[in-house]
Amino acid sequence: LVQDGMKLGLGTGSTAKHFVDLLGSRVQHGLKVLCVPTSEATRAQAAALNIPLTTLDETPRLDLTVDGADEIDPDMNLIKGGGGAHLREKIVACASRRMVVIADASKIVTTLGAFPLPIEVVSFGMEATKLHLAQVLTRHGCNTEIVMRLRPDGRNFVTDSGHWILDCHCNKIANPGKLAADLSQIPGMVAHGLFIGICSGAIIATPEGLRMMGAVT
Ligand code: A5P
Repeated sequence: LVQDGMKLGLGTGSTAKHFVDLLGSRVQHGLKVLCVPTSEATRAQAAALNIPLTTLDETPRLDLTVDGADEIDPDMNLIKGGGGAHLREKIVACASRRMVVIADASKIVTTLGAFPLPIEVVSFGMEATKLHLAQVLTRHGCNTEIVMRLRPDGRNFVTDSGHWILDCHCNKIANPGKLAADLSQIPGMVAHGLFIGICSGAIIATPEGLRMMGAVT
């Protein structure tokens, strides 16, 4: 999918990391691209590989973003944010003409929600935000177990943009589009990990080979 002259969004996570490595080797062999990373980790990886980087301020429209996902449903709605980068990932994906997900078959689900839904929140009023969140999840028939994401040292995980993450163990999300809309009404919520109608296609690695979903070419 990657062609000479493209402006690309670079995803975050263990799968996207392989994409960035492969892109780095093509850049070394002369491919000309200009890229916006979706996290500081990806920025560091891409810079080390001499991949030319820009920002959305300098380059607000991109041709293609390639990223991983935590869950993909049959309508190509996603849960993202297992690595805590979903705020920037969503901004970059939405600035791109196309977002294509790369993942293995374990990420394909019939219903989203088994993977805890990450919600990036501001620290101010966090308990009130949590209550509001529980009300919305109850209305949607989701479990309301909400867990503050911690770092290995036991302190709160802090995102690249300086916020905290609440992981919502929803179990099943019956109507992801409606839940996304309702979550967006919570004032202390910065970004939820539901990507609705953003991903155009997915390339899935299965034991039988690659499987394409949606519009990949
Ligand atoms: C980063 O915050 C995430 O959205 C990742 O893209 C997602 O969690 C997939 O990561 P893995 O490829 O490591 O499973």
